[in-house]
Amino acid sequence: MKKGLLSFILCTMFGIGTAACAEPQCMDAAFPAAVRPAKAGAGQSSTVQNPADWRLVLVNAAHPVGDFTPPELITLRNGVRVDARIYPDLQQMFDDMRAEGLSPIAGEGFRTFDEQCEMMCGRIREYRRKGYSRTESESMARAYVAEPGTSEHQLGLAVDINSENGDHQSVYEWLAARAHEYGFILRYPQGGESVTGYAYEPWHYRYVGREAAQEITGSGMTLEEYLGADD
Ligand code: DAL
Ligand code: ZN
Repeated sequence: MKKGLLSFILCTMFGIGTAACAEPQCMDAAFPAAVRPAKAGAGQSSTVQNPADWRLVLVNAAHPVGDFTPPELITLRNGVRVDARIYPDLQQMFDDMRAEGLSPIAGEGFRTFDEQCEMMCGRIREYRRKGYSRTESESMARAYVAEPGTSEHQLGLAVDINSENGDHQSVYEWLAARAHEYGFILRYPQGGESVTGYAYEPWHYRYVGREAAQEITGSGMTLEEYLGADD
């Protein structure tokens, strides 16, 4: 039996490890903000704001995902999943990019809590392999990867978009200029680190709907500022 599976069964049987990643050893302590959902599929938690508009849920380090699960996921041709409600706009955006000769690919979409753990641990290991200290590796990983339980990838409303042919810059430039027309915003803009908590990510787009995307992109605000979040 695989080690991961065995520890999952033991943890489930004895109720241990329920507030941390299955593999917290990649950091000194379990991720501080990591709150494993109490029950998979339990629906909307009180920790995720429940705005009248589902597209405007705020998730960041101060606003964890809790036990939220997207009502319906759709699987793209490459296996990446997104909230089914954003699919028509995403598909239209990709079609229009392709019509202009670009080759966009959604490299990441919905991630579970455990997948976010793997992402964080993988990034830390990568830095450790390159010779950085544990503290350095953790802090460098945190610049780009949200702690499990606090990633908006867990909502299914965030998509990491790159180029299939390696010309990422052209894709990023197109997205920066046009993504708002399809309801997506550049979620972690350059200069927004002190508000969003993350370094510039030209690939990470968040669906907020066309109206909000126009307003946010036009004003240069971050999602936090647009929603008036004070922490
Ligand atoms: N890269 C973003 C911050 C995430 O991990 O959700
Ligand atoms: Zn992302």
